[in-house]
Amino acid sequence: MQICTSAEQYYNILRLFPEEYTIGFVPTMGALHQGHISLVKEAKQKCNKVVVSIFVNPTQFNNKQDLASYPRTLEEDCKLLSEFEDITIFAPNVDEIYPEITISQYDMDGLDKNGEGPRRPGHFNGVVQVVSRLFDIIKPHMAFFGEKDFQQLAIITHMSKKMGYPIQITPCPTVRESDGLAMSSRNKLLTSEQREIAPKIYKALSLAKYLYDTEAPEAITPKLLADWVVEQINKEKLLEVEYIEIVNASSLEILNNWSDAEHIQLCAAVFAHPVRLIDNIKLK
Ligand code: PAJ
Repeated sequence: MQICTSAEQYYNILRLFPEEYTIGFVPTMGALHQGHISLVKEAKQKCNKVVVSIFVNPTQFNNKQDLASYPRTLEEDCKLLSEFEDITIFAPNVDEIYPEITISQYDMDGLDKNGEGPRRPGHFNGVVQVVSRLFDIIKPHMAFFGEKDFQQLAIITHMSKKMGYPIQITPCPTVRESDGLAMSSRNKLLTSEQREIAPKIYKALSLAKYLYDTEAPEAITPKLLADWVVEQINKEKLLEVEYIEIVNASSLEILNNWSDAEHIQLCAAVFAHPVRLIDNIKLK
């Protein structure tokens, strides 16, 4: 395991790579858990060089408190990654990534119109900015992203192509705790009471999938199904839905009719105050 904190150090390591290599890149903000590790395992299987970045990107936080409270556990992260042989960790500081404070504005062709987009203004702009900067430094052949952040994955896949990166964006399935809660660095911030209730989110999503399979499209519209999920979650006293959206998985447009899309995803954002959890499930 090698750790580098600057592009220059990374290039010194890159020079030692064998002649034939494929770089698999896993960008993260640290506070690593088994969800992140599943991406590293996938990268290890597909590529002979794996780089994991650990960088809490300030430009994607639209809330100062959220940035301040984001868990930073570099030492533990390195320990967790030490189970892998021959891995490179890129853990830069803010100046290395943003030598000048210029915020580029990206047109995401409407993919940021719903879901997280309007609720976290500037968030995806910051994500695209940092991922593009990291792609420029790391120069990977493949990059691995979790379906847990469904909209982020869709935006990065689209923008990477649009910006001309010759990088294969590889989706990886959501890893869950045994009670169904999607693993997330933010789960560490839940109180024990909230942690006990939080699996109800995925339970409601799974029930929606069951209803879709058994009732839709005849008996229930996308709006009615979304409203039903909101009701299921909001009846738990420590949970409050911010949105439930049933979308076309390609355009991320909210569906009015089931026939409007071939692939359908149900996306959720729920507060266990002040912690905000997101999750999603494929309906079709
Ligand atoms: P972070 O939240 O640390 O997530 C890093 C990667 O791990 C993302 O691709 C995310 O989708 C994936 N991931 C998180 N939880 C997962 C789970 N339970 N199962 C599977 N994959 C999971 O996402 C970010 O960081 C940042 O926005 C980043 C892309 C690094 C840009 O700053």
